[in-house]
Amino acid sequence: MTDTPDPGSIRTARSEDASCLAALSIEVWVGTYLRQGVSSFFADYALGQFTREHFLDLLNQPAEILLVSENQEGIDGYVRVSHRNPCPGDSGSETEISTLYVQPRHQGKGLGQSLLAAGVEACCTNGWDAPWLATNSENKGAIAFYLNQGFEKAGLTHFEVQGRRYLNEVLLCTDFKNRITGQVSGNR
Ligand SMILES: CC(C)(COP(=O)(O)OP(=O)(O)OC[C@H]1O[C@@H](n2cnc3c(N)ncnc32)[C@H](O)[C@@H]1OP(=O)(O)O)[C@@H](O)C(=O)NCCC(=O)NCCS
Repeated sequence: MTDTPDPGSIRTARSEDASCLAALSIEVWVGTYLRQGVSSFFADYALGQFTREHFLDLLNQPAEILLVSENQEGIDGYVRVSHRNPCPGDSGSETEISTLYVQPRHQGKGLGQSLLAAGVEACCTNGWDAPWLATNSENKGAIAFYLNQGFEKAGLTHFEVQGRRYLNEVLLCTDFKNRITGQVSGNR
Protein backbone atom coordinates (compact mmCIF):
# COMPACT_ATOMS: atom_id res chain seq x y z
CA MET A 1 0.00 0.00 0.00
CA THR A 2 1.14 3.56 -0.68
CA ASP A 3 2.49 5.38 2.35
CA THR A 4 0.25 8.43 1.86
CA PRO A 5 1.65 11.48 3.66
CA ASP A 6 -0.33 13.52 6.14
CA PRO A 7 -2.29 16.04 4.02
CA GLY A 8 -1.41 18.65 6.67
CA SER A 9 2.18 18.49 5.42
CA ILE A 10 1.18 20.28 2.19
CA ARG A 11 0.98 24.05 2.50
CA THR A 12 1.27 27.23 0.44
CA ALA A 13 4.89 28.24 -0.17
CA ARG A 14 6.26 31.28 1.65
CA SER A 15 9.07 33.65 0.77
CA GLU A 16 11.47 31.89 3.16
CA ASP A 17 11.02 28.72 1.04
CA ALA A 18 12.50 30.35 -2.07
CA SER A 19 16.06 29.02 -1.62
CA CYS A 20 14.75 25.54 -0.72
CA LEU A 21 12.61 25.48 -3.88
CA ALA A 22 15.61 26.51 -5.98
CA ALA A 23 17.88 23.82 -4.46
CA LEU A 24 15.24 21.10 -4.73
CA SER A 25 14.49 22.04 -8.34
CA ILE A 26 18.13 21.76 -9.35
CA GLU A 27 18.43 18.37 -7.63
CA VAL A 28 15.30 16.96 -9.30
CA TRP A 29 15.94 18.54 -12.72
CA VAL A 30 19.53 17.31 -12.93
CA GLY A 31 18.53 13.87 -11.61
CA THR A 32 15.69 13.56 -14.12
CA TYR A 33 17.18 15.04 -17.29
CA LEU A 34 20.98 14.82 -16.99
CA ARG A 35 21.30 11.17 -16.13
CA GLN A 36 24.36 10.47 -18.28
CA GLY A 37 26.46 13.46 -17.21
CA VAL A 38 26.26 17.22 -16.60
CA SER A 39 27.22 19.44 -19.55
CA SER A 40 27.95 23.14 -19.07
CA PHE A 41 25.08 23.97 -21.46
CA PHE A 42 22.48 22.37 -19.20
CA ALA A 43 24.26 23.27 -15.94
CA ASP A 44 24.11 26.94 -16.99
CA TYR A 45 20.43 26.54 -17.85
CA ALA A 46 19.56 24.94 -14.49
CA LEU A 47 21.57 27.43 -12.41
CA GLY A 48 20.13 30.37 -14.37
CA GLN A 49 16.56 29.13 -14.18
CA PHE A 50 16.19 27.81 -10.63
CA THR A 51 17.26 30.71 -8.45
CA ARG A 52 15.97 32.12 -5.16
CA GLU A 53 15.00 35.33 -7.02
CA HIS A 54 13.00 33.35 -9.58
CA PHE A 55 10.90 31.76 -6.84
CA LEU A 56 10.52 35.01 -4.89
CA ASP A 57 9.21 36.57 -8.09
CA LEU A 58 6.73 33.72 -8.63
CA LEU A 59 5.48 33.99 -5.05
CA ASN A 60 4.48 37.59 -5.73
CA GLN A 61 2.44 36.81 -8.84
CA PRO A 62 -1.33 36.34 -8.40
CA ALA A 63 -1.55 33.96 -11.39
CA GLU A 64 0.95 31.56 -9.77
CA ILE A 65 0.32 29.02 -7.01
CA LEU A 66 3.15 27.19 -5.29
CA LEU A 67 2.35 24.43 -2.79
CA VAL A 68 5.07 22.56 -0.92
CA SER A 69 5.17 19.26 0.91
CA GLU A 70 7.30 19.32 3.99
CA ASN A 71 8.68 16.82 6.48
CA GLN A 72 10.48 17.45 9.78
CA GLU A 73 13.73 18.26 7.98
CA GLY A 74 12.43 20.50 5.22
CA ILE A 75 10.71 20.67 1.86
CA ASP A 76 10.60 17.39 -0.07
CA GLY A 77 8.40 18.34 -3.03
CA TYR A 78 6.32 21.06 -4.63
CA VAL A 79 3.73 21.76 -7.28
CA ARG A 80 3.50 24.99 -9.26
CA VAL A 81 0.27 26.02 -11.03
CA SER A 82 0.36 28.88 -13.55
CA HIS A 83 -2.78 30.57 -14.85
CA ARG A 84 -2.96 32.43 -18.18
CA ASN A 85 -0.68 29.89 -19.90
CA PRO A 86 -2.68 28.68 -22.93
CA CYS A 87 -2.52 24.97 -23.67
CA PRO A 88 -0.65 24.24 -26.94
CA GLY A 89 -3.46 21.83 -27.92
CA ASP A 90 -7.05 22.83 -28.68
CA SER A 91 -8.46 22.29 -25.19
CA GLY A 92 -8.77 26.01 -24.46
CA SER A 93 -7.31 25.56 -20.98
CA GLU A 94 -5.20 28.45 -19.74
CA THR A 95 -4.11 26.76 -16.53
CA GLU A 96 -0.88 24.80 -16.48
CA ILE A 97 0.60 22.50 -13.87
CA SER A 98 3.97 23.97 -14.70
CA THR A 99 6.09 21.95 -12.28
CA LEU A 100 5.68 18.89 -10.06
CA TYR A 101 8.87 17.80 -8.35
CA VAL A 102 9.43 15.30 -5.54
CA GLN A 103 12.90 14.86 -4.04
CA PRO A 104 14.28 11.54 -5.36
CA ARG A 105 14.56 9.77 -2.01
CA HIS A 106 10.89 10.62 -1.27
CA GLN A 107 9.51 9.47 -4.62
CA GLY A 108 7.15 6.49 -4.72
CA LYS A 109 5.55 7.24 -1.33
CA GLY A 110 2.42 9.01 -2.57
CA LEU A 111 3.79 12.56 -2.30
CA GLY A 112 3.50 13.32 -6.02
CA GLN A 113 -0.10 12.13 -5.98
CA SER A 114 -0.95 14.31 -2.97
CA LEU A 115 0.77 17.39 -4.41
CA LEU A 116 -0.93 16.94 -7.78
CA ALA A 117 -4.34 16.56 -6.10
CA ALA A 118 -3.68 19.72 -4.06
CA GLY A 119 -2.67 21.58 -7.23
CA VAL A 120 -5.79 20.47 -9.11
CA GLU A 121 -7.94 21.41 -6.12
CA ALA A 122 -6.34 24.86 -6.11
CA CYS A 123 -7.40 25.25 -9.77
CA CYS A 124 -11.00 24.48 -8.73
CA THR A 125 -10.87 26.80 -5.74
CA ASN A 126 -9.58 29.68 -7.85
CA GLY A 127 -12.11 29.11 -10.63
CA TRP A 128 -9.30 28.33 -13.06
CA ASP A 129 -9.45 25.82 -15.94
CA ALA A 130 -8.96 22.06 -15.99
CA PRO A 131 -5.16 22.03 -15.92
CA TRP A 132 -2.87 20.87 -18.71
CA LEU A 133 0.81 20.07 -18.47
CA ALA A 134 3.74 19.19 -20.68
CA THR A 135 6.39 16.62 -19.91
CA ASN A 136 9.40 15.41 -21.88
CA SER A 137 8.34 12.59 -24.23
CA GLU A 138 11.21 10.46 -22.94
CA ASN A 139 10.10 10.87 -19.33
CA LYS A 140 8.05 7.66 -19.49
CA GLY A 141 7.76 7.35 -15.70
CA ALA A 142 6.16 10.79 -15.34
CA ILE A 143 3.80 10.15 -18.27
CA ALA A 144 2.69 6.85 -16.68
CA PHE A 145 2.21 8.68 -13.38
CA TYR A 146 -0.04 11.36 -14.94
CA LEU A 147 -2.08 8.84 -16.94
CA ASN A 148 -2.63 7.04 -13.63
CA GLN A 149 -3.85 10.31 -12.08
CA GLY A 150 -6.73 11.09 -14.47
CA PHE A 151 -4.76 12.95 -17.17
CA GLU A 152 -5.03 12.07 -20.86
CA LYS A 153 -2.72 12.71 -23.78
CA ALA A 154 -3.76 15.85 -25.67
CA GLY A 155 -1.04 16.43 -28.22
CA LEU A 156 2.62 17.32 -28.56
CA THR A 157 4.66 20.47 -28.06
CA HIS A 158 8.32 21.48 -27.78
CA PHE A 159 10.32 22.71 -24.82
CA GLU A 160 13.04 25.08 -25.93
CA VAL A 161 16.37 25.72 -24.21
CA GLN A 162 18.46 28.38 -25.95
CA GLY A 163 17.45 27.34 -29.46
CA ARG A 164 17.43 23.57 -28.82
CA ARG A 165 13.99 21.95 -29.00
CA TYR A 166 12.81 18.89 -27.07
CA LEU A 167 9.60 16.99 -27.80
CA ASN A 168 7.06 17.15 -24.97
CA GLU A 169 3.82 15.26 -24.41
CA VAL A 170 0.81 17.48 -23.58
CA LEU A 171 -1.55 15.98 -21.01
CA LEU A 172 -4.92 17.30 -19.85
CA CYS A 173 -6.78 16.69 -16.60
CA THR A 174 -9.97 14.97 -17.76
CA ASP A 175 -11.67 14.24 -14.45
CA PHE A 176 -11.73 17.91 -13.43
CA LYS A 177 -15.55 18.13 -13.48
CA ASN A 178 -15.79 15.16 -11.09
CA ARG A 179 -13.36 16.85 -8.76
CA ILE A 180 -15.40 20.10 -8.85
CA THR A 181 -18.65 18.19 -8.23
CA GLY A 182 -16.97 16.32 -5.38
CA GLN A 183 -15.84 19.56 -3.83
CA VAL A 184 -19.22 21.28 -4.11
CA SER A 185 -21.17 18.35 -2.65
CA GLY A 186 -18.52 18.00 0.05
CA ASN A 187 -19.24 21.59 1.14
CA ARG A 188 -22.95 21.04 1.59
C1 LIG B 1 6.69 12.05 -11.34
C2 LIG B 1 6.70 12.31 -9.83
C3 LIG B 1 6.16 13.70 -9.54
C4 LIG B 1 5.77 11.27 -9.17
O1 LIG B 1 5.76 11.50 -7.76
P1 LIG B 1 5.90 10.28 -6.74
O2 LIG B 1 5.78 10.83 -5.36
O3 LIG B 1 7.13 9.52 -7.07
O4 LIG B 1 4.62 9.40 -7.14
P2 LIG B 1 3.56 8.72 -6.15
O5 LIG B 1 4.31 7.93 -5.14
O6 LIG B 1 2.61 9.75 -5.64
O7 LIG B 1 2.81 7.73 -7.14
C5 LIG B 1 1.42 7.77 -7.35
C6 LIG B 1 1.03 6.67 -8.29
O8 LIG B 1 1.70 6.84 -9.55
C7 LIG B 1 2.47 5.68 -9.85
N1 LIG B 1 3.77 6.07 -10.38
C8 LIG B 1 4.65 6.93 -9.81
N2 LIG B 1 5.77 7.00 -10.53
C9 LIG B 1 5.60 6.13 -11.56
C10 LIG B 1 6.41 5.71 -12.63
N3 LIG B 1 7.65 6.20 -12.77
N4 LIG B 1 5.93 4.80 -13.50
C11 LIG B 1 4.69 4.30 -13.34
N5 LIG B 1 3.86 4.64 -12.33
C12 LIG B 1 4.32 5.55 -11.47
C13 LIG B 1 2.67 4.99 -8.52
O9 LIG B 1 2.87 3.60 -8.68
C14 LIG B 1 1.39 5.29 -7.79
O10 LIG B 1 0.39 4.40 -8.24
P3 LIG B 1 -0.64 3.72 -7.17
O11 LIG B 1 -1.40 4.86 -6.54
O12 LIG B 1 -1.47 2.83 -8.05
O13 LIG B 1 0.23 3.01 -6.20
C15 LIG B 1 8.11 12.14 -9.21
O14 LIG B 1 8.58 10.84 -9.47
C16 LIG B 1 9.13 13.16 -9.70
O15 LIG B 1 9.28 14.23 -9.10
N6 LIG B 1 9.88 12.80 -10.76
C17 LIG B 1 10.95 13.65 -11.26
C18 LIG B 1 10.45 14.95 -11.85
C19 LIG B 1 9.40 14.74 -12.90
O16 LIG B 1 9.57 13.94 -13.81
N7 LIG B 1 8.29 15.49 -12.76
C20 LIG B 1 7.17 15.40 -13.69
C21 LIG B 1 7.42 16.13 -14.96
S1 LIG B 1 7.39 17.87 -14.71
